[in-house]
Amino acid sequence: MKLKDIYKTSIKIGIKNDFRSRKLINEHLKQTKKKYDKLDKKNKALFDKERLTNPYSDTRIHFDSGKSVKKVLVGIDITVGDLLIAKELGADLVINHHPIGCALQGLDDVMQMQADILAMYGVPINIAQGLLKKRISEVARGVHASNSYVTVDAARNLGISFLNIHTPADNSVSFYLQQLIKKKDFNYVSELMDFLNQIPEYQEAARRGSAPTLYAGTLENRVGKIAITEMTGGTEGSAEIYEKLANAGIGTVVSMHQSEKNREKAEKAHINMVIASHIASDSIGMNLILDEFKQKGLEIIPAGGFIRVSRTKKNV
Ligand SMILES: [Fe+2]
Ligand SMILES: [Fe+2]
Repeated sequence: MKLKDIYKTSIKIGIKNDFRSRKLINEHLKQTKKKYDKLDKKNKALFDKERLTNPYSDTRIHFDSGKSVKKVLVGIDITVGDLLIAKELGADLVINHHPIGCALQGLDDVMQMQADILAMYGVPINIAQGLLKKRISEVARGVHASNSYVTVDAARNLGISFLNIHTPADNSVSFYLQQLIKKKDFNYVSELMDFLNQIPEYQEAARRGSAPTLYAGTLENRVGKIAITEMTGGTEGSAEIYEKLANAGIGTVVSMHQSEKNREKAEKAHINMVIASHIASDSIGMNLILDEFKQKGLEIIPAGGFIRVSRTKKNV
């Protein structure tokens, strides 16, 4: 397989599983093109042109050795050491989940989709956008100073193709859980927790010491309307959103991880906070994408915290 095809197919899967409509995604690309067109020649040369066709600024090819891909090492957080292991094991490609390189610097752009997701759950779009604006600028400043090219440079020096897939995978786990939850009729938070605990990645997370956990609310609470507002869209959103979600009729939020500041605000708003667990949730998203390539004969080596589960034969 060609690296370009793996990249393009991952984006396609990300779009298919995006909570936003195709129209909204296209609108985002149209706005980016408008900004690009307004730039002068000098700034056009500096612009990341992938943004014109790929709606996920946190997903990029970082190095392409040109070799055809048969064996891939996949991790949630790849280190330079993992790249050496990949070389030792004869992998032609390394895929990381979390954004690195220019994809880390693009994390703020992808966060804009959170506003559309919140609107889908009943929060007025103007409120969602207003609250996110401050948080997005915080994230942009937070990643600005980071040395985001350490592993990218190592992959180039080793001659190993290097790709990271972030939001397309997070979209996939969000859509997957939403579809499964939609079919159920949970009364209590405990029933939602029991359901999560049947998913193999979460079972493995439990064995590894980070099972799905309740951060706010109780198992005996009525679950109410469940929202999956925090599993995709770059990183954690605004702490002020929980009160708005509660006003919009949401009883329970399923998330991957949560800061203490956001947890306190969720508790105050009487939202049940189900933390499905971070790395296992990221793994589900990656697994759903990788199954597509596994069917085409790609050999997958799990690394860097990644919990590999295949759903090609059996569905959970
Ligand atoms: Fe993720
Ligand atoms: Fe993550």
